[in-house]
Amino acid sequence: LLKVALVGFGTVGQSVARILCTRTSAGLALTHIANRRVERKRVDWVPADVVWTDDFERVVSSDADVVVELIGGVDPAAGWIRRALEAGKSVVTANKQVIAQCGDGLLALAGERRRHLLFEAAVAGGIPAIRGLREGLAGDRLVRVEGVLNGTCNYILTRMADAQVSFSAGLAEAQKLGYAEADPSADLDGADARAKLAILSLVGLRRRIDVEAVPLASIRAIDPIDFAYARRLGCTIRQVARAELLADERRVLAFVRPALVPLSSNLARIEGNQNVVVVEGAFGGEASFSGAGAGGGPTAVSVVSDLEAIARAGADGHAGWPAAPAADGVEREFEAPHYARFIVADRPGIIASVAEVFSRHGVNVDAVLQEPGWSKAELPFVVTLERCSSAVVNEALAEIGSFDFHVRRPVWVPILASEGGRS
Ligand SMILES: NC(=O)c1ccc[n+]([C@@H]2O[C@H](COP(=O)([O-])OP(=O)(O)OC[C@H]3O[C@@H](n4cnc5c(N)ncnc54)[C@H](OP(=O)(O)O)[C@@H]3O)[C@@H](O)[C@H]2O)c1
Repeated sequence: LLKVALVGFGTVGQSVARILCTRTSAGLALTHIANRRVERKRVDWVPADVVWTDDFERVVSSDADVVVELIGGVDPAAGWIRRALEAGKSVVTANKQVIAQCGDGLLALAGERRRHLLFEAAVAGGIPAIRGLREGLAGDRLVRVEGVLNGTCNYILTRMADAQVSFSAGLAEAQKLGYAEADPSADLDGADARAKLAILSLVGLRRRIDVEAVPLASIRAIDPIDFAYARRLGCTIRQVARAELLADERRVLAFVRPALVPLSSNLARIEGNQNVVVVEGAFGGEASFSGAGAGGGPTAVSVVSDLEAIARAGADGHAGWPAAPAADGVEREFEAPHYARFIVADRPGIIASVAEVFSRHGVNVDAVLQEPGWSKAELPFVVTLERCSSAVVNEALAEIGSFDFHVRRPVWVPILASEGGRS
């Protein structure tokens, strides 16, 4: 019988306890619940022999076999995970920050101590993506991992697409539904998805990347009008987190940013606050894993599945992770066709001036699109660009942005290649 100590009795911790206390599992027994000021946390549906404590040291010195860390944040969680492993316990965590920042070191420690360190819930909450990459696709060599990894962003973007709600109205709805934090910056600006991407790179590409080196672009600039144009191009817009092993197999191209993706792609098919993880293997091609990316219930299922895996393997049956080498660096720039949207106070010659700047930067304009029915005082139009470097588009847009005809700042996003194709 595997003795389980829960550390952190919040949304996920309580859902894990519910599963452990209501579902019959021959192999698992909840023995401890730890939380600061634990008295206010007591519930009557937990068996009377479970020990409640606000002292983590009591968990470390107990006879629990597995510590489930669900307090979140880097400090003190990372130190507590280390302490638990050093004390000979296996660890299950849902903590993306800890695994993204120090997962490799903690995995090495777990390997030395022949203990398990599992973190299925840290990426895409309820979706068994880590297990899918690590075990289901172990026979392939993955070259690209990407996904829609932030449910808040996806909720807002799909509401913009389906009901033309503004960005701020979409955000307010997401907050009301409990999807978005009071401070939603980590969701909207990409830091949340970036931590998950670093974990997918570690597990899927077997490359450790410096989380901070992954460039971010916010979805805040996206407007419902962009979905109308995207649809004309056979696309929609998603916050895409992508990591791709470059041809030298040492550097990793990575970014988190809004992008146009084909309507038929696995990234586009995810609606509302769902998540998807899409991988491309050198031998097996594309595979995708989708479902609930957050929420107490789905996330707790991933945690309990990790506990079941440990129970099946037995205390000493841990399957070690080979150390992942550090990538030689994160490549920030990439080549793709691009979409650039302008909202201008109309006057003759605007398109000619925009085209001149692109041409001077060696960028070919593919098409100019204009939806009818807009006022000349606030006229949107879109320019699509043939495949070119993101760095060059950035430079050209900075120059175009200094013209005086803009009513809003211009926005550009890449048009990511259809599935199966490497951009
Ligand atoms: N919620 C989701 O849908 C979801 C999805 C995927 C992954 N996760 C991850 O799961 C973990 C837990 O998330 P959650 O949503 O359950 O968070 P939560 O509801 O805030 O729960 C955290 C719990 O840990 C306790 N805690 C925090 N710091 C502590 C400390 N230093 N010492 C003792 N207890 C402490 C909190 O106590 P107080 O009540 O005193 O604050 C709270 O009960 C996080 O790593 C999160 O990123 C969550």
